Amino acid sequence: MLGKRGPRARVRANRAAVRTTLAAGASHGLVLGVRDPGLVGALVSVPPGAWPLPPPGLALRLWAIAVQRPQAARRWAEAFDTLAAHHPILPHWYLGTLGVDPDCQRRGLGRVLLEGWLQRVDADRRGAWLETDRPENIAFYERAGFELADEVPVFDVPVWLMSRPPLPA
Ligand SMILES: CC(C)(COP(=O)(O)OP(=O)(O)OC[C@H]1O[C@@H](n2cnc3c(N)ncnc32)[C@H](O)[C@@H]1OP(=O)(O)O)[C@@H](O)C(=O)NCCC(=O)NCCS
Repeated sequence: MLGKRGPRARVRANRAAVRTTLAAGASHGLVLGVRDPGLVGALVSVPPGAWPLPPPGLALRLWAIAVQRPQAARRWAEAFDTLAAHHPILPHWYLGTLGVDPDCQRRGLGRVLLEGWLQRVDADRRGAWLETDRPENIAFYERAGFELADEVPVFDVPVWLMSRPPLPA
């Protein structure tokens, strides 16, 4: 997505992307966090009918484009459009972002976040949808009831689309 840029520039660009996602998610979506004792993981989701989230304010958007560089911002937009074409039509919960601090991974915190979110999804009797470009995450999501729905290349990177049916009434 970011082209040939060094690790520091990539981290800065990814932080800018996450900050815009968090801003939109906090205003219009559902954001969950896990502390141990400081914040070490977060999940950003979008309730039924609220996807796609509206873009963040102009100042934040311009700042993110400047940090990412316009070419990368264009590629994010293209990737978004590719994946948007596959979004389910029926109202669903969307898992936008899930991440745990690398020093705190594999201690069950990701599962805590995911299961906390799925309790709300199930209480709502709605399906859920997510995308992942990491094959190692597929089994993690399958254990939470997601199924592979499709595989879509985004700039030659395979992205797996996963759906979770609504809990029966
Ligand atoms: C994917 C991610 C959120 C999972 O979070 P996590 O806190 O590491 O996940 P958990 O510890 O809850 O579970 C992950 C695996 O570790 C295992 N695990 C949990 N505690 C463990 C421990 N003490 N020792 C060894 N393994 C452990 C779990 O069994 C689980 O494996 P399984 O799914 O095969 O059963 C995290 O790895 C991450 O942030 N990755 C980078 C960003 C990313 O890929 N996000 C998802 C985008 S779609």
